[in-house]
Amino acid sequence: MIPNQKKTLSSSKTDALKGVITVPGDKSISHRSLIMGSMAIGESTVSGLLEGEDVLGTSKALKALGADIYKDEKNVWHIHGVGIGGLRQPTNTLDMGNSGTGARLLMGLVSTHPLSVTFTGDKSLTSRPMKRVTSPLSNFGAEFQGNTDGTLPITVKGSHMPMPFTYELPVASAQVKSAIMLGALNTPGKTTVIEKIPTRDHTERMFKYFNVPIEITANPEQGSAIHVTGYAELKAKHMLVPGDPSSAAFLIVAALVTEGSDITLKNIGMNSARTGLFTTLIEMGGKITFENQRQECGEDVADIRAQYSELVGIEVPQDRAPSMIDEYPILCVAAACAQGHTIMRGIEELRVKESDRIHVMVQGLKKCNVNVTEHPDGMTISHSSVKGNVTIETHLDHRIAMSFLILGLISQKTITIDDASVIETSFPDFVLLLNKLGAKICP
Ligand code: S3P
Repeated sequence: MIPNQKKTLSSSKTDALKGVITVPGDKSISHRSLIMGSMAIGESTVSGLLEGEDVLGTSKALKALGADIYKDEKNVWHIHGVGIGGLRQPTNTLDMGNSGTGARLLMGLVSTHPLSVTFTGDKSLTSRPMKRVTSPLSNFGAEFQGNTDGTLPITVKGSHMPMPFTYELPVASAQVKSAIMLGALNTPGKTTVIEKIPTRDHTERMFKYFNVPIEITANPEQGSAIHVTGYAELKAKHMLVPGDPSSAAFLIVAALVTEGSDITLKNIGMNSARTGLFTTLIEMGGKITFENQRQECGEDVADIRAQYSELVGIEVPQDRAPSMIDEYPILCVAAACAQGHTIMRGIEELRVKESDRIHVMVQGLKKCNVNVTEHPDGMTISHSSVKGNVTIETHLDHRIAMSFLILGLISQKTITIDDASVIETSFPDFVLLLNKLGAKICP
C-alpha cells in the first residue's frame, strides 16, 4: 500500500454538538462479510460496507486470492466467491497496511489452502505479535516462515491436508478465534476453539447466517466451546453492515463532554460483546438512550441518543475489557472530564494494538495537563483542567488520533495531532461528521 502523506489537524473548544447522523459501517463485520462472501458460491452483496483503508485492504487481498469484488453505482458491494478450498495462489505479497484484523483473519483462511502467501504491513502492523495466530494455525499443518520474533512479513505455507484440532485461547482475542474458525472452513471434521472470556462473536453469527455447521456449548466455568465442521458449501447471501459502535463511541463521548450537546446516531451495532463502553459511560452518569432496537442480518442494532452529562469517575470492571477493548482511548477523554478518578486495569492487551495505547495515551494526556498515572496493566485518570496548545504524536494509531481531536473540543487551547491520515483506516468521514455536528476541527 502507498503510505499516506502525514497531515496535521487541530481541534478547538466547541459549542454544543447537535444533529442526527449515521456513522460508517462496522469494521469487524465489514472484513468478515468480504471474507465470507469470497468463500461462498455465487454472488453475495454487502450494503453499508466500511470503505476505510483496512477493509479496502482486505478486499484487495481477497481479489488477489481469486475472488471477484466490486462496488456498483448504488454503493452496494458485489462478491463472486471462489467456494471453500477455491482460493488461488496470489502473484504478489499481500500488504495488509495497518490492519491487524485483515492480516490475522486472512492468515487463518489461507492456512488450510495449499498456497504460499506472504503477508506484510505498515510500520505499526509489522511490529505487532503474530505468534498468537501462527502458533494455533500450525496445528492445521500449516508452516510459517519469517522473523524469529514472530512479526510480519511472514510467509504462510498452507496445509495440503489440514487436520482439525481443539485450541483453548490463551488471550481473549476475537482475531485469533476467528483466524482458527476461518481455517476450519477448509478442514475435514470438527475444529474447536475454547474461549474462557467472551469476545466479539461476529464470526460465529456470520457462520450461522451462511449456514456453516457451527455448534456453541457454553459452560460457566470452562467458558464456551465453538465447534466448526468444515467442508460446508456456503450459499451466497446479502449482508447489511450496521454502523460501527467503536466509531460511534467518539461522537458519543464528544456529546457527553461538550456542554449543551444532544446528538442521535442512527443504525449502530449493539452486539453485547461490543457495548461495554456504553455501559461504562451510563454508570458514569452519561445520558445515553437506545431507540428503535432491532435485529438485522443476525446482529442487534439501535439508534443512540447522547446528551451532555456531568460525569463521575468509576473503576471499570476488568471483565468488561473485551467488550470495549478498542474504546479505552476515548474513555480516557470522558475520564478527564469526570469528577473524581476513573480506574482502568486489566487492559495490558492495549499495549499490542496499533500502538502501545496505554503508554501513548498517558504521554499525550500528560502533555495536555491531564492528571494520569500509568500502571503496567492500565491507567488511572483524575478530573483535570485540559490545557492544550500541544502537538500529540499519534504513532500510526487511528484511535489515538481521534481521541485527542475529541479532547481538543473541551481544551482551553487547541490540540494538534501530528498525523491524521491514519484515521482513513477506520473512519474516513470523521472530521466531516464532527464538523457537521458543530465541532471545529481544521488543518
Ligand atoms: C477485532 C478484534 C479485536 C479488536 C480489533 C478488531 C476483530 O482485536 O481490537 O480492532 O475484528 O476481531 P483482538 O481480537 O486482538 O482483541
